[in-house]
Amino acid sequence: MTSHYKSFTYIENLHQHIGEAVTLNGWVFDKTEKGKLIFIKLRDGSGIVQCVLFKPNVSEDISANAQALTQESSVSVKGLVRAEQRAPGGVEIDVQDIKLWQVARDYPITPKEHGVEFLMEHRHLWLRSTRQHAIMRVRAAVIKAIRDFFDGNGFTLMDSPILTPNASEGTSTLFETQYFDLGKAYLTQSGQLYAEASAMALGRVYTFGPTFRAEKSKTRRHLTEFWMVEPEMAYFDLNDDMDLAEDFVEYIVQYCLKTCKRELAILGRDITKLEAVKRPFHRLSYTEAVEWLNANEIKLNKRTPDGAEVQVDFPWGEDFGAPQEEAIMTQFNKPCIIHRYPTDVKAFYMKRDVENPKVVLAMDMLAPEGAGEIIGGSQREDDFNALRERVLHENLPEHEFQWYLDLRKYGSVPHSGFGLGLERTVKWITGAEHIREVIPFPRMIYRIVP
Ligand code: 4AD
Ligand code: MG
Repeated sequence: MTSHYKSFTYIENLHQHIGEAVTLNGWVFDKTEKGKLIFIKLRDGSGIVQCVLFKPNVSEDISANAQALTQESSVSVKGLVRAEQRAPGGVEIDVQDIKLWQVARDYPITPKEHGVEFLMEHRHLWLRSTRQHAIMRVRAAVIKAIRDFFDGNGFTLMDSPILTPNASEGTSTLFETQYFDLGKAYLTQSGQLYAEASAMALGRVYTFGPTFRAEKSKTRRHLTEFWMVEPEMAYFDLNDDMDLAEDFVEYIVQYCLKTCKRELAILGRDITKLEAVKRPFHRLSYTEAVEWLNANEIKLNKRTPDGAEVQVDFPWGEDFGAPQEEAIMTQFNKPCIIHRYPTDVKAFYMKRDVENPKVVLAMDMLAPEGAGEIIGGSQREDDFNALRERVLHENLPEHEFQWYLDLRKYGSVPHSGFGLGLERTVKWITGAEHIREVIPFPRMIYRIVP
């Protein structure tokens, strides 16, 4: 006996049913009437198909049902699948019957232009539009590529906790909550510290889940809740880490090109830009990048103590912001890894470069076309004393990092990893202008509803 649901037909599979009668379950995207014809554009989540009703062919009740349909009304349409060269999916439906589930009244999102605020307030409905639908499909493809890449390369998925007793990426962007009698707990900024413990147990692991930053940044690239995938590998040094990151990002982009042609076309994405994303990527040390900025007279805006704005050479030691990253990327049409950042601008767990202790073995991958940083990673400090000193230097509570320091006491090895921001990556691949469009229900400083 086959289950009821297995008999459902979906629009994306209609080409396999030419000449057959099928029933489609969906919503009305659009409806027009012309004499004895009613054209219903039906969407079912997998695609859109035009259903043509010829009034003389059906009963009056069925015609009346069709006439009652409004945008987003829910219906089941039974009809014959006919090949139609001119239709986007190559097929049309000749309607035989219509079952009306609900007539939608005054659907708020109409084909006219709406402001972003309005759309954001109606995010629960906005997701039904063609463009949002395409972005969500690319997002799902990126997630699949991520999992396939690691699952297929000997990595084990190791989930890390979301409620944590401490910070990993600095204390300034923590969401806190009271945790019973045990004091404060924080929503995790990164699963990395737990991924490190997991890597010592399983060799190559990845953690993939939501992460949180109480970030005051109101930019097109920041969410307060975003998804991060974090591989962590025992015995990998910084070079191994960078090589893996390049393989990984190339795989994701090429996978999307292969599986999301239709979605990328709907989004109007210039795919030649994505086709160029092949190894090897570019690499620059932080110091080389600073030299390039200064050689090209890309100045830094600074305020003097009396408030005047002045333009200065970029000082070695300062962190790059979006303007510097964008300037550097103007030279490149594929991602660039910047490595060996000044120790003071990076996290406590990064290993110092033995050849120059002023820098750490860090790496950030910047994507082209103004997409900015998609990856942050590093080789980790594996020496007990050096790490303890960094914990104390950053005023982190040593007792809460005891377990993390333990990893440097019992068979410590060189190890490395990185974190790729899912939404940053989807924003880049889809060409979306704002990160709020690439996660189903975005969380930002000024928005938590819907
Ligand atoms: O560079 P980040 O802060 O690195 C870490 O958290 C490391 N612990 C990762 C690791 O080594 N395992 O964050 C990693 C990536 C960034 O490159 C960016 O893509 C994304 O996470 N990201 C954000 N995405 C959206 N909104 C935000 N507020 C983000 N902050 C970071
Ligand atoms: Mg970073």
